[in-house]
Amino acid sequence: MTSLGGKKIILGVTGGIAAYKTAHLVRLLIKAGAEVQVIMTPASHQFVTPYTLATLSKKPAYTNFFNAGDQGGTWNNHVDLALWADLMIIAPATANTLAKMANGYCDNLLMAIYLSAKCPVMVAPAMDLDMYVHPTTERNLSLLESFGNIIIPAEDGELASGLIGKGRMAEPETIVTSVTNLFNANLPLKEKKLLITAGPTYEPIDPVRFIGNHSSGKMGFDIAFEAAKQGAKVILVTGPTNQKISHANVEVVHVMSALEMYNACHKYFGNVDAVIAAAAVADYRPKTVATEKIKKNSEEFIIEMDKNPDILASLGAIKNNQFLVGFALETQNEIENAKAKITKKNLDLIVLNSLKDEGAGFGKPTNKVTFIDRKFNIEPLELKPKEAVAKDIIDKIIKHYE
Ligand code: C5P
Repeated sequence: MTSLGGKKIILGVTGGIAAYKTAHLVRLLIKAGAEVQVIMTPASHQFVTPYTLATLSKKPAYTNFFNAGDQGGTWNNHVDLALWADLMIIAPATANTLAKMANGYCDNLLMAIYLSAKCPVMVAPAMDLDMYVHPTTERNLSLLESFGNIIIPAEDGELASGLIGKGRMAEPETIVTSVTNLFNANLPLKEKKLLITAGPTYEPIDPVRFIGNHSSGKMGFDIAFEAAKQGAKVILVTGPTNQKISHANVEVVHVMSALEMYNACHKYFGNVDAVIAAAAVADYRPKTVATEKIKKNSEEFIIEMDKNPDILASLGAIKNNQFLVGFALETQNEIENAKAKITKKNLDLIVLNSLKDEGAGFGKPTNKVTFIDRKFNIEPLELKPKEAVAKDIIDKIIKHYE
């Protein structure tokens, strides 16, 4: 799971030495989940090869309206390419390309796409320091800004000429952060911070054994990703799991036991707007943890257990304005037990899973849940992928803050 998942990006590469950094930029964008179409100016081939960028972007890198050997049957339709994109980035943008963009020149495929584009356009200029501060460059950049293009300013440092000053293309990491921020700018949860718990907890018996459960963590990770996609900053406190998540908005805090999860949740609770507790927390933990591996000396082995704190209930007891969402997995008197849990834990919403529903629950890719809110309104949903359930839960949070 990645921060630019599903986003379609055109990367325009022009002929400056910083073009060599676009190989890394393409890698970062692809790693973040974006689909990248590279468009090159002829001059950029002097600095980076189309094969490099095609390999990294997993798509041919186009330079011309017609591809070599093409007798006129197919062509790189600039309008189709422009309309395909959710975002166009021109990096590096040379002084020459900036001048063309500012004046509507259309002498190559990249410029034709720029003129046809309806999506946001980001420009990362790169040139020598005197060129960067020349009045024409400054005028062109402000013209582009007046068109609504987003300028990612050049940075200070050593330039290819040996001079030191402003003109270096922004680092690929900085460009990717600007891209992520742009996509997050109008998102409904952009001002919100969420604490999400996920996965099982492992309660140690001795240095090599533990008591755990079959929670895969998938539900919590899907919720965290959906919340981040909607612009929220997410603290994801998770027990041991194989799930992976990679999103600029998500900070993952790994814990092992219920007590560790309790401490982590209390550390962050004061700074968050909402909590979604999707973790399957062990209710009990061994009273003592042996320091050495326990030997199998006797026929019977009894573990005495202490009750773990109820993390969600402890947060419910001290909450200010936070919106609290809990899960309930019930096998009998489901609705009544779930309602009682809302009151006992001071929740705003409970997501009830029924083990009776085929396809729902632990280790499954789907879930069938019923929402019950504080006023005991009941809303059963149909069986759907956990990603879709995550979206429904996050939609509830969005509605709450509307
Ligand atoms: O009481 P029960 O375990 O059925 O409640 C389930 C809900 O409470 C889940 O949201 C779970 O993450 C949370 N919980 C918790 N700490 C516990 C037990 C459950 O946060 N010790």
